[in-house]
Amino acid sequence: MKEIHNFTITARRQHGAQYFSLVLQHAGSMQPIAPGQFVEVLVEGSREVMLRRPISVHDVDEKAGTMTLLIQIVGNGTRQLSTLQPGDRLNVVYPLGHGFTVDASGNHPLLVGGGAGIAPLLHLSKVLASKGIKPTVLLGGRTVGLIPVCDEFRPYADVLVATDDGSAGHHGVVTTHPAFSQSYSMIYTCGPTPMMKAVARSAAQRSLPCEVSLENMMACGVGACLCCVTDTDQGHRCVCKDGPVFDITTMHKWYEN
Ligand SMILES: Cc1cc2nc3c(=O)[nH]c(=O)nc-3n(C[C@H](O)[C@H](O)[C@H](O)COP(=O)(O)OP(=O)(O)OC[C@H]3O[C@@H](n4cnc5c(N)ncnc54)[C@H](O)[C@@H]3O)c2cc1C
Ligand code: FES
Repeated sequence: MKEIHNFTITARRQHGAQYFSLVLQHAGSMQPIAPGQFVEVLVEGSREVMLRRPISVHDVDEKAGTMTLLIQIVGNGTRQLSTLQPGDRLNVVYPLGHGFTVDASGNHPLLVGGGAGIAPLLHLSKVLASKGIKPTVLLGGRTVGLIPVCDEFRPYADVLVATDDGSAGHHGVVTTHPAFSQSYSMIYTCGPTPMMKAVARSAAQRSLPCEVSLENMMACGVGACLCCVTDTDQGHRCVCKDGPVFDITTMHKWYEN
């Protein structure tokens, strides 16, 4: 069930110049949050930012009643959010959208993340690990400083890195990493659209099941304003309500363009 709640920030960490994470504590009992679901956060104290901002849930600790968000500073809203400190409150609508199909992972899934798209993959890795499945996680970025929180994945996954400038791991984009061309029981991906389309095209060519998590611009976050619509093989779909995670078998139109 969706809820609007004032969370209290209990921790803030900076990850390089562009990324920070916030741990949010619920005052009562938190709603269950599936990997790949997102929240809409209110940016208080900003004259320019009217609309809530969609952010994936990076981590969940059900016992502690906390969730963690990993945020990249790209504009006014995320810059304002970066000023929040422990003790401050954050008004959040959650949980939103449909997450990854965890039950379809099989025993050898690959998770491919780029940029802020890395965020939802930690929660997914931990849920898979809790089912006895150790995924391979392939994280990409222009340079090593733009691949945050790699170490957080290591207890739950085999972690591989690809950088465009060769500053860490494989020199090149994620789809040229030798491990990418191996066979997997499932591929889950979130990140920049060109990266996800390349991952989806490759998965389709190899007949591998694959889910993509789209990050279209959003406003309402609940399917009312239609500003996040994407073209699928089944017609137009709201990324916020029908996604953000889509099975690529319904997305030929999207990844072939
Ligand atoms: C379902 C979903 C989950 C997301 N999860 C995360 C997350 O976990 N961590 C994170 O850092 N970001 C995430 N994003 C992206 C995040 O919502 C945007 O970066 C944020 O709304 C930008 O707000 P702003 O006011 O700082 O920037 P704005 O001033 O609104 O925009 C600044 C620049 O960022 C671009 N931009 C804005 N929104 C997006 C977007 N959705 N995708 C790509 N470019 C955008 C704009 O075109 C502009 O160039 C997610 C987006 C969606 C739809
Ligand atoms: S953001 Fe309003 S319909 Fe998706």
